[in-house]
Amino acid sequence: MPRVIYNTATTLDGYLADDENSLSWLFVVAGADEAESAFSTFLKGIRVLVMGSTTYEWLLEHEQLVDHPEKWYYSHIVSFVLSTRTLPQVAGADIRFRKGDVDALWPEVIAAAGDGSVWIVGGGDLVGQFADAGHLDEIRVSVAPVTLGSGKPLLPRRIESDRLTLESVAQAGQFAELVYLVRRGSGG
Ligand SMILES: NC(=O)c1ccc[n+]([C@@H]2O[C@H](COP(=O)([O-])OP(=O)(O)OC[C@H]3O[C@@H](n4cnc5c(N)ncnc54)[C@H](OP(=O)(O)O)[C@@H]3O)[C@@H](O)[C@H]2O)c1
Repeated sequence: MPRVIYNTATTLDGYLADDENSLSWLFVVAGADEAESAFSTFLKGIRVLVMGSTTYEWLLEHEQLVDHPEKWYYSHIVSFVLSTRTLPQVAGADIRFRKGDVDALWPEVIAAAGDGSVWIVGGGDLVGQFADAGHLDEIRVSVAPVTLGSGKPLLPRRIESDRLTLESVAQAGQFAELVYLVRRGSGG
């Protein structure tokens, strides 16, 4: 089975983005270059990524991907975008739009991953869907020294300490990089 990893930056109070889906708070944090270097190493082992539609639409807009498909950074990776809507495709990219139960998607994810790993990009509820289905092995968070008070949640599920093992702690600039191993719950 491929290893399924949730890797994301987060605020100290557990948000991926603010209420308007802005990441402006993230890009001003010192040490992003060091965090980026660790991320490049991580990306080398990834064969599949999965994201929800808000995250995809953020990328489309932020990178102007419809007009500049060459800016799609993940051309060597099979990408699944979960949505009930019809969304623009990035020309030349292997982006597969799917909807519904992530367990039904799982065989296709396994086939695409081969001997590589799966990166769940977010958002938090989509990661929760994979955790609910028993398909989440690792959580890697880069915690930024920021609190927002509200926004898009990191992982809106109850997963207690009997299922999470702190594997490593590192510092990259002003980010605290925490890696947790996830043990399946009784439901998954
Ligand atoms: N800090 C970081 O590094 C980081 C990382 C990741 C994301 N982000 C940001 O965090 C925010 C996350 O947004 P979000 O919480 O709204 O999450 P999201 O997962 O990006 O988008 C949620 C939407 O995806 C669709 N969806 C999810 N699961 C589905 C399923 N099983 N079947 C069909 N459709 C499904 C639904 O929309 P529709 O059906 O209406 O399309 C749902 O409303 C974004 O702004 C993103 O840019 C930040």
